[in-house]
Amino acid sequence: LVINASRSSGMQIPDTFMGVFFEEINHAGAGGLWAELVNNRGFEAEGEKVPSSLHPWEVIGDKPAIVVSIDQTSVFQRNRNALRMEVHCDHSSSCLPDGVGISNPGFWGMNIEKGKKYKVVFYVRSTEGIDLKVSFVGTNGGKLASSEISGVGVNASTWRRVERVLEATETNHYSSLQITATGKGTVWLDQVSAMPLDTYKGHGFRMDLFQMVAELKPRVFRFPGGCYVEGNVLKNAFQWKQTVGPWENRRGHYGDIWDYWTDDGFGFFEGLQLAEDLNALPIWVFNNGISHSEQVNVSAISPFVQDALDGIEFAIGSPTSRWGSIRASMGHPQPFNLKYLAVGNEDCQNNLIPIYQGNYPVFYEAIKRVYPDIQIITNCDASKQPLTHPADLYDYHHYSLTANDMFHKAEDFDHASRTGPKAFVSEYALIKEDAGNGTLLAAVAEAGFLIGLEKNSDVVSMVNYAPLFVNTNDRKWTPDAIVFDSHQVYGIPSYWLIKLFKESSGATFLNSTLQTDSPTLAASAISWKSSVDGTSILRIKVANLDKKAVIIEISIEGLESSVSFSKLTKTVLTSSNPMDENSFSEPNKVVPKESLIQNAGKIINVHIDPVSVTSFDFNM
Ligand code: AHR
Repeated sequence: LVINASRSSGMQIPDTFMGVFFEEINHAGAGGLWAELVNNRGFEAEGEKVPSSLHPWEVIGDKPAIVVSIDQTSVFQRNRNALRMEVHCDHSSSCLPDGVGISNPGFWGMNIEKGKKYKVVFYVRSTEGIDLKVSFVGTNGGKLASSEISGVGVNASTWRRVERVLEATETNHYSSLQITATGKGTVWLDQVSAMPLDTYKGHGFRMDLFQMVAELKPRVFRFPGGCYVEGNVLKNAFQWKQTVGPWENRRGHYGDIWDYWTDDGFGFFEGLQLAEDLNALPIWVFNNGISHSEQVNVSAISPFVQDALDGIEFAIGSPTSRWGSIRASMGHPQPFNLKYLAVGNEDCQNNLIPIYQGNYPVFYEAIKRVYPDIQIITNCDASKQPLTHPADLYDYHHYSLTANDMFHKAEDFDHASRTGPKAFVSEYALIKEDAGNGTLLAAVAEAGFLIGLEKNSDVVSMVNYAPLFVNTNDRKWTPDAIVFDSHQVYGIPSYWLIKLFKESSGATFLNSTLQTDSPTLAASAISWKSSVDGTSILRIKVANLDKKAVIIEISIEGLESSVSFSKLTKTVLTSSNPMDENSFSEPNKVVPKESLIQNAGKIINVHIDPVSVTSFDFNM
C-alpha cells in the first residue's frame, strides 16, 4: 500500500461527510432517545391497530371499587380524551391502603434508579373526597418512590396541574407508574408524564443513548424518516405542525408504517434541538404529497408546499413571525441552523416517478424563492443519469443483500458524473443473512463501501447508516446501529465501524495505491489536524473481507525527511467468527481493540486479520 502523504496532493473530504439518520422506527424516539417514561400519556392511542385508547394502561382494582372509562372532556383542545375513574374506596371498603387506580408500564418497563429524581406531571379534576397517590412500583410490587396529593377536588369542572419530583429509594429496570385514589367520588386524569430530571441539557434526551450518538461525531442529522415521513396513508404520516408547542397539547399519532402510536413528545422542535445538541446540521425530510398508498397530484399540492414553507419558518424564521414565534415560545428564539431539506423519501421510484417529478419542481421553486440558500435534496438518483430537474443534492439509498455486494457497491460512484449535484447517501446497510442482527461480517463489508465513498467524496457529500436505533422489545427492522432496552445499550459492529470513520469529515483524502488485484481488500488514507493538540494524524484504514490473514507493506511517501512518527496506534475490529454479534450480555464482543506499534518508520509490514477492519494512526 503506497501512500502519498503530501497534503497538497490530497483532496478535501466534505465537512458534512459522516452523519446520522434518525427515524421513528423500532421505538427510536418514543420509548427510546426521548426520555418520557409514560406510554400513551394522554389516553389518545386510537390507531387502527390499537383497540383501546387505554392501552397500555392497566386498571388497578375491580368493580365496584373502580369503574374506568374514557370521555372527551380534556382541557386540551387537540386531544380531547381524558380518563374517568369512579372510585368507591372509602374507609369501609377493602381497597385500602393505596386504593384503586391506573398503572402504566411505560415502554416495556420504566428504568427507575436509586437516588435519581423523576418529574411527574399530570392534570386532574375531581369531585370532593378523593385523595391521590402517585408512585413508581417495582416488578415485585414494592414502592420505589411515591407522593401523596390529598384533597385534589372541590370543583369537578376545574382542571388542575399537579407536578411532583419523586426520588427513587431503590432500583428497578422494569417499573411502572401508578396513580391510585382513595375516597368516594369521580376523578378525571389527563396528560400524565414522567421524565427523569437527568436528560441531556434538560432537553429530554436519554443520556446514554444521546452519548452513543454524540460519540459518532455526526456532522449532519437527517430526520424524522424514512418511510415514517410518508405513512401508509397520508393521514398517518408525520405532520410537523401536530408535534410542536406545549407537549400537553400534542395530538400524537399512529405511525402506520412501523405500527405503533407515538405521543409526539419527540417532535419537529426536538429533532432540530437534537441536531443542535449534537453539533450536526439538521436535514429535514418532509412529505411531498406521497404516502405508500396515496399520492397527491401537482394540481392539489399547494397545501403541502405551504406546510413545508411554514416548517422552514418554524425552524429559521424570525421569533416574531407566525411559526418562528412558536419556536421562540418553546425556548429557542434563535433560529436553528437548517440548511438542508429533502423533498420526500424514496418517492422517485417506479410508478411514482411522474408524480414525484411533477410535484418536486413546485416545492423547489417555492422554497428557493423565499430561501435561496437552502440546499434542496431530490429523491431521484443521479448516480447513473442526469436529473431532469434542478437540485443541490440527490438522495441515494442502498441496502445490500450480500457482503460481497456491499463491499463493492461504492464503485457505482466511480462512474458518476463529476459535474452536477452530489450524492447524499442517506441510508446504507448490509441486511439479511450475512448481516443477522449486526455481524462483524456486515461491518467489514460496509467498510469496503465507506472506503469507496471516501475515494468518491468529490461527488458524495454525506453518508448515513440506517437505521440508527432499535428497542429490542419492538424490532421492526434489523440490523440497527444502536441497540437498547429500558436501561441497557450497545453498538453493533457497524456502529463501531462508523466510529472509525468519524474523523473523515473535513479530513484530507490522500492518494494511495493498493497494489493487489484482490477483490476482498480495500484501503484508504486520510490526514487531519487533531482538535485536541493541533498535531497532524495520518490514518490508514484497511478492510479485509477474506477469511485469510494478509501481510501488507505500508509505504508512506511525500513527507519531508524531517517528519517522523511519535506514535503509531493500531486499532482492529475483528472477532473469531465473522458472524459474531454483540449483545446485552456481551456488548464488547466485537469492538475495536487498540495497541501501540513501536519504532514505526515510513515503510512497515503489518499483519491484517481475516475478516477485519484495521486502522493505523500515525501521529506526526
Ligand atoms: O431504514 C429503514 C427504511 O428503509 C426507511 O424508512 C426507508 O427509507 C428505507 O426503505
